[in-house]
Amino acid sequence: MEEHFPGQKTLAALQRGIPYFKNGLRFNEAVKESASRGFRSVRQIVIDRAEGDYVWDLDGRRYIDFQNGWATNPLGNCHPEILEAVERANRQYGFHYDHPLRYDLAERLARIMPNEALPRTNYEVSGTEAAEAAVHLALTHTKRRYVVTFGASYHGNSIAGKLLSGLGDDSTRYLEAWSGGVIRAPYPFSEDVPAGLSQDQYIDFCLWHLEHEISATMVSREEIAAVLLEPGLAEGGNWIPTRKFVRGVREICDRNQWLLISDEVLTGLGRTGKMWGIQHYDVTPDILVYGKNLSGGIAPLAGISARDDILGDVELFSSGSTFAGSPAGCAAAIKTLEIFERDGVINHAASLGEIAQEIMADWEKYSIVRQVRNSGLLMGVSFNKSAFTDPDAEHWWSSRAVRGEMLQRGVWAISDHEDTIRLYPALNMNEETLREGLEIMETAIKEVENGAAIEGNGTAFPTGVAGF
Ligand SMILES: Cc1ncc(COP(=O)(O)O)c(C=O)c1O
Repeated sequence: MEEHFPGQKTLAALQRGIPYFKNGLRFNEAVKESASRGFRSVRQIVIDRAEGDYVWDLDGRRYIDFQNGWATNPLGNCHPEILEAVERANRQYGFHYDHPLRYDLAERLARIMPNEALPRTNYEVSGTEAAEAAVHLALTHTKRRYVVTFGASYHGNSIAGKLLSGLGDDSTRYLEAWSGGVIRAPYPFSEDVPAGLSQDQYIDFCLWHLEHEISATMVSREEIAAVLLEPGLAEGGNWIPTRKFVRGVREICDRNQWLLISDEVLTGLGRTGKMWGIQHYDVTPDILVYGKNLSGGIAPLAGISARDDILGDVELFSSGSTFAGSPAGCAAAIKTLEIFERDGVINHAASLGEIAQEIMADWEKYSIVRQVRNSGLLMGVSFNKSAFTDPDAEHWWSSRAVRGEMLQRGVWAISDHEDTIRLYPALNMNEETLREGLEIMETAIKEVENGAAIEGNGTAFPTGVAGF
């Protein structure tokens, strides 16, 4: 293992960014905090090249890619057939609104919707816009003013996206005056279950709160348009809901004439081993939101699909920005779905998910591991503080440290604002690569558990570089 990580070219590139980007670097705050507590700094890389299951940094080091462009490369990096389809679309159509690929894709999307019950589509560029569009559609369709969302959910980073999300951090500070229409409901987490309640009772409590407490203390049930649910709260820490909860939410929506919106920007299009995450629960939503994987990892495309009676005859609903449904985005999506079908990609993802589940099944034996939370290839591990952690350190320190050790050993994963490491392998990842990546992750967990990530223990880390 080389002495300095990241290497000199990567460090030089990161240094170049310091005067220009927010806080200098993505993890700058965490870096400073780590340094002040004597921990090894947060590791960061800059990509030089990406191909298939791997990325390479500017110093030529190769990494198994579990980061996956934040879960946007369903077929691995730079899939040649998608690149070709996108290039062909660009050459043929340039950028225009009306082109045949919009229609081809709409037909395909209608065919893959749960129970083929959501035939109408509206294209967007990003998942954020799509989540907002779904909410606007629900409000204008029902002529009601409120939407219910859950704690730890994530629906985007625009102003409305922040307000719809339930990340519980400072993301909505100074936006308080804008948030009148969003009601945040408790979500039954599989950790931090309130004292005295079983997991099952906690779910019952959350369902009761949704159906009764909101209307008793906040707004009347006739004013609620929809419930916005992620069938796997990915960004908020990979929380996987139970069947009882998701089916319970559907039943409550039905009893109260609320629409159920399934935000599948991350869980959708194979990530959980089924086409849509909500299909694990045998539930059909009224509106479905998607993005990320639809891009094939090459050209952005997102959208919503809805029931015929909801999107077939709208009065006030409008959405879709300039680049929504671009020829390149539609070409990427069509080719991605074609390859899914041709190569049985979702079945492959489901079997990789089972292999991963088997490998990770006993990881809770490590004192720093709290919970393994997987649904197909939506994979996450939450962490406790390590015995070596400064008692005042933030909870997420162990996850950052493990993620750093993984990176140093050649595996790239996500750990941003939560105490969880999230892994999103490509759906067509080679089985051996998946196994190797998880083996390296387990080694990293053991290293952190044994104190290897404290400054001065193990590999020296370069100092004197701003931000590192
Ligand atoms: C469930 C969910 N909704 C919406 C979004 C926002 O999507 P985008 O970043 O493409 O705007 C995300 C992004 O991670 C997401 O996970």
